[in-house]
Amino acid sequence: MWFRVDKMLLETGDDMIRPSPVVLDTTESTNDVAKSLLLDRADFGSVVISRKQTSGRGRKGRLWQSPPGGLYMSLVLQPPLRPQSVAILTLLAGCAVVDTIRRTTGLETALKWPNDVLLREKKLCGILCELVTESDTVLGVIMGIGINVNIPLSRLPSDVRGRSASLLEELGHETSLERLAGVLLRAVHLRLEHVKSAELPAQVIGEWKERNCTLGRKVRVEEGTGVFVGVAVDLDPDGHLIVEASDGRLLVVTSGEIDLL
Ligand code: BTN
Repeated sequence: MWFRVDKMLLETGDDMIRPSPVVLDTTESTNDVAKSLLLDRADFGSVVISRKQTSGRGRKGRLWQSPPGGLYMSLVLQPPLRPQSVAILTLLAGCAVVDTIRRTTGLETALKWPNDVLLREKKLCGILCELVTESDTVLGVIMGIGINVNIPLSRLPSDVRGRSASLLEELGHETSLERLAGVLLRAVHLRLEHVKSAELPAQVIGEWKERNCTLGRKVRVEEGTGVFVGVAVDLDPDGHLIVEASDGRLLVVTSGEIDLL
């Protein structure tokens, strides 16, 4: 078995978190499997992990390269958030990943809005949170996390390789996927606990700001069909990015893509 759940539980060392992940050898996308679990009324907190993905999905319809050695994990969640605040979950997942990487490897990573975790300015991890609805009712959210763990960069296509990082390349040795998954699940769940106190958005935004490499930077923003350059100045309470354009206007970017310049 490529992934030992008992090892993950031991590594987590936490009585509160007892996930029994669905562990797959291969699948098209763990987010799709998690979504079908949700539609089948699986428990919230269910987790899907796969050794590889054949059609891993990224934001904006992009492919997420998913050879063996990476961590490909999706969680079924039902956070009590307004649909427009669901972007907060992407930021929450990013904070949990930065914390997990630090705890398990000692490496410092940084958050690029909205969904990237960077190591030395290269992408180490991507996050894809998807709202699942059924006839206008929000059933839940799928939180998908992909981390380049034990992947030699030579396994990635050349166009992706130059902007990617992997823990294997950085550390020169493999990292336990079980430990990483266990610590990461704990980190996500601990942060979700704040939902109960209704303080989640403010807490997450505060933590995200401490770990980001976006604010204060000149950025190129692509949103819809438009492109503009400005300076990322802040996040709004829903986790959207506020950018000061060159004419001084403050623009709120809700679902765009940015490049750090
Ligand atoms: C991005 O950076 O565009 C997001 C990438 C998200 C990839 C993860 S891997 C696990 C989960 N399953 C998917 O198909 N996508 C997410």
